[in-house]
Amino acid sequence: MPLFNLNDKFACVAKTKSGKSYLGKILQRAFPRKVILDTTYEYSESDGDIVYGFAAFSEAIKRIEELSEYTIVFRFAHEEKNQDQIFEEICRIIFYLGDTFFVIEEIHLYTSAHTLNPWLLKIATMGSHQGIGYLLTTQRPSLIHKTLLTQCDHIFIGSLIDPNDIRYVSEFCQEFSKKLAQYPPRRFIWWSHSHVQELDTNNLK
Ligand SMILES: Nc1ncnc2c1ncn2[C@@H]1O[C@H](COP(=O)(O)OP(=O)(O)O)[C@@H](O)[C@H]1O
Ligand SMILES: [Mg+2]
Repeated sequence: MPLFNLNDKFACVAKTKSGKSYLGKILQRAFPRKVILDTTYEYSESDGDIVYGFAAFSEAIKRIEELSEYTIVFRFAHEEKNQDQIFEEICRIIFYLGDTFFVIEEIHLYTSAHTLNPWLLKIATMGSHQGIGYLLTTQRPSLIHKTLLTQCDHIFIGSLIDPNDIRYVSEFCQEFSKKLAQYPPRRFIWWSHSHVQELDTNNLK
């Protein structure tokens, strides 16, 4: 894999079980300071410090602020009903923390095509000045705000089913967009600043 800038932004989009998170975990190794929003409980203790709920997240941030290397794996606590508000607050904290790679699994659950919380918008448009990069995964790209994609340095696109999703990302796929509906798992079209190539992740460890 090539080396990335610490403030690069990535998106990984494909139907479920395509290997988005697997590829994402390989990419994340390049980033020493990370916060991961573990929406579907896919991470483990070996990936980082797992914290449940906003109070524990805030405490963890205080502990790691000065560290050159850390991984916080955040999960919502079951009793937390105000997830949108908490998500926005986490985005605000990360924006001010700086020098952090923000991984958001299943981003479509936190944004819509038409609205973007102001702090995630700031991260998308001004985060690189703060040393913030991100990696977003989603199985439904057409449900996320386009700014999140257009600010990306790298977009990995795998098999998609919904015609709206295919249409939404086709501008990043050039001649490959016709193949998207039949794309095999673990293979992605890799868009990077208008350069497009195919990536087979089967041999990536
Ligand atoms: N390139 C790969 N090599 C080996 N195993 C893989 C690869 N990509 C995905 N997998 C495995 O396939 C399963 C689904 O992958 P995952 O990354 O969770 O998919 P997604 O995030 O797209 O739903 C996981 O068990 C994962 O470990
Ligand atoms: Mg996943």
